[in-house]
Amino acid sequence: MKFFVDTADVDAIRELNDLGMVDGVTTNPSLILKSGRDILEVTKEICDIVSGPVSAEVVALTADEMIAEGRKLAKIAPNIAVKVPLTWDGLKTCKVLSGEGHMVNVTLCFSANQALLAAKAGATFISPFIGRMDDINLDGLDLIADIRTIYDNYGFETQILAASIRTANHVAQCALIGADVMTAPPSVIKGLAGHVLTDKGLDQFMKDWAKTGQKIL
Ligand code: G3P
Repeated sequence: MKFFVDTADVDAIRELNDLGMVDGVTTNPSLILKSGRDILEVTKEICDIVSGPVSAEVVALTADEMIAEGRKLAKIAPNIAVKVPLTWDGLKTCKVLSGEGHMVNVTLCFSANQALLAAKAGATFISPFIGRMDDINLDGLDLIADIRTIYDNYGFETQILAASIRTANHVAQCALIGADVMTAPPSVIKGLAGHVLTDKGLDQFMKDWAKTGQKIL
C-alpha cells in the first residue's frame, strides 16, 4: 500500500520523505488554509520535494471553471493530480482532464456508487473518506472493502486512495482490505511506529543494561 501524506506542511513532508515514507501528497482547501501559504507556491514546493503524485484541489463548482482551474494546477508540475469533488460537474471535469492525460483524484466519496461513477469517468484515484463516515456512525472501512470488490469485479484501474484516516487501525485495515493508497496526516503516520509493548520492553532493556555497568561506545 502506498503512503501519501495528507498535508501542505512542507517541513513535515520533507521529514517523512527523507525516511522513504512518502509515495505522494494530498492537499485540500482546508489544508492550504492551515499552511497559511499561497496554493500555487506551496504546491510547487511540494512537487519539488516529492516525485510521486501531489493532489491539488480545484475550488470552482461548475465543470467549465473546474476544468480551467485544473489545467492551471496541472501546469505546476508533471506530478500534479488534479483533485475534483464527486459531483456531476466534478465527474465531467474528471472525464475531460483524464482524457487530456492528467492524473485526476476524485474526492469526497461516501458511497460505492459514487466510486463506480468516478472509475467510469476515468479517475486515477478515488478518495473515500473513512473517518468522516465513522463520524456519523457509518463504517468507512466497509466502504473501502465494497469499492475494492466492485473495482476487482470489473477490472477498473482507478486506485482506491483511502482518505480521512485518523487511526493506526484504519491504516492496518486498509492494507488488509487492499486499498492501493492511504493518505494520512504526518502525526498518524509517525504514530504507526508506537506500541505500548515496545515502550515497556525498551524500558526493561535500559534498566537491565544499566545494571551491567557496560558501555558500547
Ligand atoms: O484526505 C481527506 C482528509 O483531509 C480529510 O480528513 O480528518 O478532515 O476528515 P478529515
